Amino acid sequence: MRQRRGWNSPVPAIYSFAMIDRRTFLLSIGVFSISTGMPDAKAEPELIVARKNRIQLAPEGYPPTEVWAYNGQVPGEILRVRQGGRIVRRLENRLDDPTTIHWHGIRIDNAMDGVSDLTQAPVGIGEGFLYDFIVPDAGTFWFHPHRNTLEQVSRGLSAPLIVDEPDQPDIDDDIVLMINDWRLDPDAQVIDDFTNMMDRSHAGRIGNYLTVNGLAEYVRASKRNERLRLRVINASSDRVIRLGGKGLNARIVALDGMPLPTPLRLDGMDLAPAQRVDLFADIIAETGETAFLTSEERGGTYSLATFPVSANSAAIPRDTLKPLLPNDLPEPQLADAVTTELVMEGGAMGGMMNGMMHRNRMMGMRDLMSEGLVWAFNGVAGMPDSPLLRADRHQTVRIMLDNRTAFSHAMHLHGHHFSEIMPEGLGPARDTILVGARSKKEIAFVADNPGKWMFHCHMLAHQAAGMATWIEVSS
Ligand code: C2O
Ligand code: CU
Repeated sequence: MRQRRGWNSPVPAIYSFAMIDRRTFLLSIGVFSISTGMPDAKAEPELIVARKNRIQLAPEGYPPTEVWAYNGQVPGEILRVRQGGRIVRRLENRLDDPTTIHWHGIRIDNAMDGVSDLTQAPVGIGEGFLYDFIVPDAGTFWFHPHRNTLEQVSRGLSAPLIVDEPDQPDIDDDIVLMINDWRLDPDAQVIDDFTNMMDRSHAGRIGNYLTVNGLAEYVRASKRNERLRLRVINASSDRVIRLGGKGLNARIVALDGMPLPTPLRLDGMDLAPAQRVDLFADIIAETGETAFLTSEERGGTYSLATFPVSANSAAIPRDTLKPLLPNDLPEPQLADAVTTELVMEGGAMGGMMNGMMHRNRMMGMRDLMSEGLVWAFNGVAGMPDSPLLRADRHQTVRIMLDNRTAFSHAMHLHGHHFSEIMPEGLGPARDTILVGARSKKEIAFVADNPGKWMFHCHMLAHQAAGMATWIEVSS
């Protein structure tokens, strides 16, 4: 059994979650109410208050952790709506830092996209903002601030946004699993090191304590042959999670909210920061055994979610699995696309640039470092004044992502879903894609949503350190 405590060790990345062979115990069923996913109108707040709170994040025996949270909870309460439905929520900012809400993955009206200084003014301390928008796609989404994002997400501001299909698929339960990655000190407080240049210039700000739905250990009693829909959301600021399963027959049915035409067996997949995967997981562990959703880290296998299989399993195995119905996404027309290139440079071990543009002037390495900037897109660090690309509405856009750095990056486009162009055709539609170190990926999408849309690395320490740009789609 691996020691679960010990984030006070000077060695980074001591994982708190249990080894897979750890003997688990049943928690009372009440703990899981957050995950049952039953629509509950009165539980949906009209207000989303961003405020501080103290919650028991670390295991018993540690003090409560001060978090920044939506309505005081980490993760925030699930916001749930039917496909095509409307969301109306007033953000109230009771933090001492300006904020916004970005509705990640929603093909939204640009004015509601929540990007501070691009689509709206920041919501000041004590101020509010009314978000009001329609959700066109069914699937698993989430929301988080888009202002001082690294710090605000790392302190706890994040919540699931679930859009239900018109018809419920054939499942026994619908479970949201939101992963948050924390960097805690020995007193279980979030370490205030958001400008750390080591993090910014390497793989990002990786924490030392993972929670699933705010819990050190997520446990749900289950039955053999049950089919669970697991909606896994990686809300970590920078950590890539390598997902697997044991005692589960898990099929990937959707990525970033968009259904796969043909479900794929889950066989070790990287879930980058901000990415989501929907799994249909049939419990195949025997009665008395335990099934696990796992993550792999440095040769160890850890449990993200633990499903002890109880004795009274009556369910019969299902022999079919129907794909989810597709969302209505336009099909890219590769032949008459506008094309551009995004060259990613900088960071450690990648031959940091001697200088790059920032706010319309050339800056040397020292000045850049003093601004916390170490990465550039096409030679520009941080948000440029003019967009990477201007597209006419409905035009297909192709962007070659050329990662010349020694790290992988999780590129996210707002307001659209895109597909990777692969030799065998277009890959699945996504809103966030992991581009490996020193590799290239080309993506395509139809620019059908007018407005100014951010395009950035969702490793939030990298975003803060310069990996941000935007595109503009004409109306
Ligand atoms: Cu999830 Cu620009 O963000
Ligand atoms: Cu990055």
